[in-house]
Parts: sequence; structure tokens; C-alpha cells
Amino acid sequence: MKSAALLSAAAAAIAVHGSPTATLRSKQRATELDPITATGNAFFKGSERFYVRGVDYQPGGASANIDPLANPDVCLPDIEKFKTLGINVIRVYSTDNSVDHDECMNALADAGIYVVLDANNPKYSINRADPHGSYNTVYLQSVFATIDAFAKYSNTMAFFSGNEVVHDHLNTTLAAKYVKATDRDMRAYIKARGYRKILVGYSAADVTTNRMQTAAYFNCGSDEERSDFFAFNDYSWCTSDFVRSGWDKKVELFTGYGLPIFLSEYGCNTNERNFGELESLMHSNMTSVYSGGLMYEYTMEANKYGIVEIEGGQENGGKDQTGERKELPEFAAFSSALAAYPAPTGDGGYTSTTTSQACPTADEHWAIEETTLPEIPEGAKKVCSPLWP
Ligand SMILES: *[C@@H]1O[C@H](CO)[C@@H](O)[C@H](O)[C@H]1NC(C)=O
Ligand SMILES: *[C@@H]1O[C@H](CO)[C@@H](O)[C@H](O)[C@H]1NC(C)=O
Repeated sequence: MKSAALLSAAAAAIAVHGSPTATLRSKQRATELDPITATGNAFFKGSERFYVRGVDYQPGGASANIDPLANPDVCLPDIEKFKTLGINVIRVYSTDNSVDHDECMNALADAGIYVVLDANNPKYSINRADPHGSYNTVYLQSVFATIDAFAKYSNTMAFFSGNEVVHDHLNTTLAAKYVKATDRDMRAYIKARGYRKILVGYSAADVTTNRMQTAAYFNCGSDEERSDFFAFNDYSWCTSDFVRSGWDKKVELFTGYGLPIFLSEYGCNTNERNFGELESLMHSNMTSVYSGGLMYEYTMEANKYGIVEIEGGQENGGKDQTGERKELPEFAAFSSALAAYPAPTGDGGYTSTTTSQACPTADEHWAIEETTLPEIPEGAKKVCSPLWP
């Protein structure tokens, strides 16, 4: 079960689970990576353009809801596989902000790997059926505690303020208001706490009808309200190529969007998976608009997208992910694709200034009428006081 740590005094008082020796050792070993920053519509590592070349990492699947960064017996063998692949980012969907993550985060840093984290978890998230009710103090405390737990690691690349909250039903677009308010609050919290500027953005579902409106919405309004990047999930590359998959259109549509964009999930599985889409993702056809993506996904789960099988990982609700790792044929295929299509050198034709979008107007695919965001709940403000601006 996940539990949200309370902030400040309570958060500081949470015991570090693990022997002092182990903590000390991992602290001494900690590698500091250059933080990932955003300029214009691209990511940077120092002065170098940075492309996301990674995997989605959710051993046990969504229903198991385990925190793979809390258990070295889970993360360490996988980090060895990540090194073999040569990836530079993983996305983790669910973490427990009340436990220690030093060993896994430091081992990832040693491997040069950054982490993009979902700040929500199944227990604390915006409920699309009741967005107003779920945007409350207890929810925000959990989100802020996750920020507190990961802000100290140089390889925390970004936080997702929400994942696929908006779906294809018109009503679900109403939830975007509360996700965007959370996105705003997270940025304000990071600033108020004096943390380094860790990027915050939304991960949108693969929904054609409202994708552009969602993208515009998260990049409209004041600078405090606009996201630092936009990400969406895309499964359209099935036995296809740049033009037939429609990715050429997705470049056209997002040209001039004004923020960095990456694919937070990609990798159709109805085809023979050779991950040939990496050629386009790393090609000048796309790099002026896109900054790479995350292949869904590392472990083989019931939905059949994995490249590594964990022995016993599907038993008992997926609670034990410490079994033997077996590479499936797709592991070698993905590894070959990464090697064949490296990150391009140079600036990839990015745009050096950010631009905002006009907020979308309501229509048959978008239900939000007004652009003002809900105020942060008084209670959440109090929790952070006197830090809150
Ligand atoms: C959308 O919301 C309206 C008003 O609350 C409701 O009557 C309708 O059933 C909802 N539709 C869906 C598809 O949820
Ligand atoms: C680049 O775009 C051109 C023109 O749309 C297309 O013919 C070509 O296949 C694309 N190449 C890659 C690697 O995406």
C-alpha cells in the first residue's frame, strides 16, 4: 500500500529504512549528473541538446502498484539491463514517498540514467469522475511529499502532474482544469521550497480527438500556469513508416507549439517489434519538434508490451518483482535500434524561445469554457506556509 508522508516536520522525521552503513555507502557513491533543463522547445544537459531515449518501467504493471525504486533487489538487476540497452531515461509510474530511494536513484545516476516520475499514484490522484472533489489538501500533500522525496537527486529529470486523466469522453476534459492546477501548484511548490527547477508537465493519452486541445490548454495562460513541457502516448507506428504512421502530421501539427515535447509511451505491439520508429524520432524529420521518447515498456505484463520477463512477476498480484530476469527477443531488437539510431549531434533545429498557445475554446471535443484555474485549497496553502508565495 502506498502512504503519503506529511510535509515538513513529519517528512523529516520519517525514518530511513536501511542500515546506516548502507545509507552512508550509497551517499558516498552518489554521482551528480548535470540537471536536465528546458530552453525554448528542447531539453538540455549542460549546453548539449538532450533527447529522451528510454523505457517505461513498471514491474508488475499498474495493478501491482509497487515502487521499483524502493527495493534494490528489484532496481539493481534492471539497471544492469538498462546499461546494456544504453538508455538515458526511465519513467516510473508509482512511488512511495515515505521510504528511502537512495540506493536505486544513486545506482541510476552512476549509470547516467535520469528518472521521470508520476507525482500521482492510485491512492492520490485526480479522479476524472470527480475532479473537483479529488483536488484537495490531502491529495496535494501527497504530491508535494513526492517532490520532497525526489528533489534531492540530480537525476530526477521531471515530474508528471497527471497521466491520461483526459480520455476521449467529452466530460473527462473537465478534469484537465484540476490537473493543470496541480501542475501549477507543483511548480510553485518547487520554487517555494528553493529546489532546483525540476520540470513539470502532463502525460496525455493517445486520443486523437482532443490531443491538440489538451496540448494547447497546458501551454496557455500565465507563465506560472503553463507547463514546462508536454508529453503524449502514441501507439500509431504499426508496421509502418514516418508518413504512413502519421508522424509527419504530428510534426506539422506541433510545429511552433513552443515547449519541449516527447513521447511518454510509444511502441505499437500489433506489428513485429523492431522499433524502427527510433530512426524517425532521432531524425531531422522530427528533432525540431520532438525530443525523443519512452518505449512502453520494460517488463512483460498481461498487456504484452514488455522486453524482459521477470520470473514469478505475474504471480500473487505482481507483488514480488525480484525473480530472475529473462531477455525476450524484443530486448535485442530494441537494443539494436538504439545502437543504430543514436541521438543526433548538433541542436536538432530546435527553437530557442518558448511561446504560449491560445487556450482552446469549448466545442464537441472540449468542455472547458473559461480559462481561470481553481485556486489551491486553503488547507494545502497552510501546509506549505510560510513557503507559499
Ligand atoms: C457528462 O456530464 C453530464 C452533466 O454532469 C452528465 O449528464 C452526462 O451523463 C455525462 N456524460 C458522460 C459521458 O459521462
Ligand atoms: C523523412 O521524411 C521524408 C518526407 O516526408 C520521408 O520520405 C522519409 O521516409 C522520412 N525519413 C525518416 C527516417 O523518417
